[in-house]
Amino acid sequence: MAPRKILLDCDPGLDDALALLLAHGDAGIDLIAVTTVGGNVGLAGTTRNALALREYLGFEAVPVAAGAADPLERAAENAAHVHGEAGLGDVHLPVAVLPTSAVHAVDLIIETLRNAPGEIHLVATGPLTNIALALRKEPRLATWAASFTIMGGSFTRGNATPAAEFNIYADPEAAAIVFAAGWEVVMIGLDLTLQAIATPAIIERMRGLGALGEELVIPLATFWTNPHDDDWQGQAVHDVCAVAYVTRPDLFTSRPARVEVETRGQFTSGATVVDFSSTAPNAVVPVALDVDGFWDHVYAAWEVVALQRALRTGDRG
Ligand code: RIB
Ligand code: CA
Repeated sequence: MAPRKILLDCDPGLDDALALLLAHGDAGIDLIAVTTVGGNVGLAGTTRNALALREYLGFEAVPVAAGAADPLERAAENAAHVHGEAGLGDVHLPVAVLPTSAVHAVDLIIETLRNAPGEIHLVATGPLTNIALALRKEPRLATWAASFTIMGGSFTRGNATPAAEFNIYADPEAAAIVFAAGWEVVMIGLDLTLQAIATPAIIERMRGLGALGEELVIPLATFWTNPHDDDWQGQAVHDVCAVAYVTRPDLFTSRPARVEVETRGQFTSGATVVDFSSTAPNAVVPVALDVDGFWDHVYAAWEVVALQRALRTGDRG
C-alpha cells in the first residue's frame, strides 16, 4: 500500500510531539504538512515547538504553517500546567533555524486538500479552530479529505472539566462546526486514549531508542504525573492514537455514533454528546485499543527515527 498522505494540525504539546514522531517514522505515512494552533500553550509556543521538532527529527522538507492563536469566540485556554510553560515539559530543543511558511495554516489546509482531492488524510490533535475556519472559508474541504481523524472528546468523562475533554473544551464552537460539516469524523476520545498509557514497562522499552529515547521520548512521556492519583500508572499518549489510526485502524474497535457538541452548558460546555444508537451517525468512535499491537506499531516507527538520528548525528542508537 502506498504511504498515506497526512496533514497534521496540532498544538505541541507533549503528546503532539510524540504524534509527530510517529507520523515521521511510520513508513505507511507521508507527512505532507504540519499546521499549528493555540492550545496546550499559546500559538507562538506551539509553533516554536513544531519548528524545533521538525529540525530535531529531520523532516525539514515538510512545511509548517501557523494558524489561529485564539478560539472562534472564547478567550484562549491553555494546558501549561500539564505540558509545562514552554509546552514540551522539560525538553528544550535547539531553536529552529528554518521559519514557518508564509501562508496561514487555514490557507495551507485548504490549498493542500484542494490540490489533491481524496488523497490527504487530515488529522487534528489540538483545538479545532483551524479546521473550523477552513470549513467556513471553503466548505468543500469536507469532501476533499480522504479521512478526518481527531484526538478529542469523550463519551464518558472529560479532563478539562468533568464534562469536557481539553481540545473540545478549548473551542466548543469550532468543534460544533467540525461535527456538522457533513464528513465522517473519527473521534478518538479519552475513553480510547486512556488505554494508551506509557507505563513503567513501556518507558523501560523506550530505552531501546538510545539517544532519541533519553533526549525526547522518555522525558515527554513522563513529564506529567498525577500526584492525586495513588495508583498512577503513567501518562496517556493521547495524540499518538489519532496518527496511529490512519494507517492501523485494525488496532481499534470502533462504533458509529452521532456526536453533538455542547456549546451553551453552564457546567457542560465542550462536552461531546455521543449517541451510539443514532440512525444519522456523523462519526466513528473507537472504543477499544489493541494495546500491545499499538505499542509494537509505535515503537517500530519511533525506532526508525532513532536509527535515522543515530546515522545523522553519530549518537549511539
Ligand atoms: O485531552 C488531551 C488533548 O489535549 C491532547 O491533544 C493534548 O495534547 C491536549 O491538547
Ligand atoms: Ca494536542
